[in-house]
Amino acid sequence: VTHSPRSDVDLFADPVLENPFPVYEQLREMGPAVYLDRHQVWAIPRHEDADAVLRDDEVFSSVNGLALTPEANATILAGTVLASDGREHARLRRPLSQQLNPRAMQKLSRDCPDGLNVEEHARQLVAGYVAYDRFDAAELAQHMVADVVMRLMGLPDSVRKDLLNNAKATFNLFGPANARYRTSQPAAAAMLLYLNESVRPETVRPGSWIHALYQAAENGTIDEADVVPLMNAYTTAGMDTTILALTTTIHLLTTHPQQWAHLRTGRATAEAAVREALRLEAPIQGFGRRVARDTTLGGTALREGEQVWVLYGSAGRDPRKWGPTADEFDIRRPGTDKHLALGAGRHECAGNHLALLQASAVIGAMASHHIALDLEPARKPVRLLNNVLRGFASVPVRATPE
Ligand code: HEM
Repeated sequence: VTHSPRSDVDLFADPVLENPFPVYEQLREMGPAVYLDRHQVWAIPRHEDADAVLRDDEVFSSVNGLALTPEANATILAGTVLASDGREHARLRRPLSQQLNPRAMQKLSRDCPDGLNVEEHARQLVAGYVAYDRFDAAELAQHMVADVVMRLMGLPDSVRKDLLNNAKATFNLFGPANARYRTSQPAAAAMLLYLNESVRPETVRPGSWIHALYQAAENGTIDEADVVPLMNAYTTAGMDTTILALTTTIHLLTTHPQQWAHLRTGRATAEAAVREALRLEAPIQGFGRRVARDTTLGGTALREGEQVWVLYGSAGRDPRKWGPTADEFDIRRPGTDKHLALGAGRHECAGNHLALLQASAVIGAMASHHIALDLEPARKPVRLLNNVLRGFASVPVRATPE
């Protein structure tokens, strides 16, 4: 490939994953599309072009394009809603939308026949955690999201730990075949094996999402072969993303007392805080697309068959879109909902309403307590290093009565 600009940066090296933002800034300055020699992919670092790629799903195809290796595209991604286009995508997305649409979500925050009320659950959980003056925000986030999503999926609680581990591993497989990718292969395979071999209509909770998928297969709305890839959409996409979003929001509020004060005094909403955290620290930093025919992006020629890597995480920091304060956490920022961390266009996150409902419920419940938050001085937050996910494995927080 002879196009320019190009860079030999390794986007997936540990120091870059720790702090990718200086690299993103360089890439944004280089152009709308920068060829990454090491990964043989065009990075799309600016908001405007990332948005354009995501919305043009005829030219930028999700088939064979999401992950950087042909193996991952052919194995874990083939046949999924995420990695399909056009009518096939619409067909696969329909059953998920039925479970995850805003009306279904409203029901979850009011009284619900099977006893799950997301907001009430968040209040109870938060009260339990803040009663201790020290707690781990990552643990609180995991507790909340796994309680809610395991129940909605209808899977037994005994598998929650394995599912969480295996989902993280699956996200590593979206990246290049580096060490992180290789060590994740067995766990990602275990997830598929579990879904294929252990989950049965009679082992899932009646009325749950997965139960509904079996019913849809039985009455012919979807094919039987679609059931496991659709289940995989829930198990992979549904938990870590929200856990990381919530942990990061708490971390940012803890390290920005002024913003916490805005929230505490009602000058900003919990949802605005979550959205601003998503903009600044996208839980999914990048995904790919395959160029379906020769095109240009911001004047750069892209050839059919090449791959682009949409940097949601860089788009959220682009000063062309967010102005000179792009790197600052400001929960009263106007238009903070225009970020791309939940995608855009046809593949926009199917679970975004549920993610926001859960994260906002926890942040809102925290803000209702008269507490000051700061990081626990003796222990440091621990970053999670993953080929595409960004967030923390642990954020030790100190909550003191105000
Ligand atoms: C804050 C938490 C979340 C983040 C940051 C997030 C992020 C994303 C992003 C960026 C995409 C677009 C992928 C693309 O452009 O190809 C996506 C798609 C998707 N997400 Fe989420 N997600 C979150 C929570 C959830 C939840 C809770 C669920 C389900 C329970 C979910 C299910 C899905 C599904 C099924 C898709 C595929 C949609 C399609 O291809 O049409 N996500 N998500």
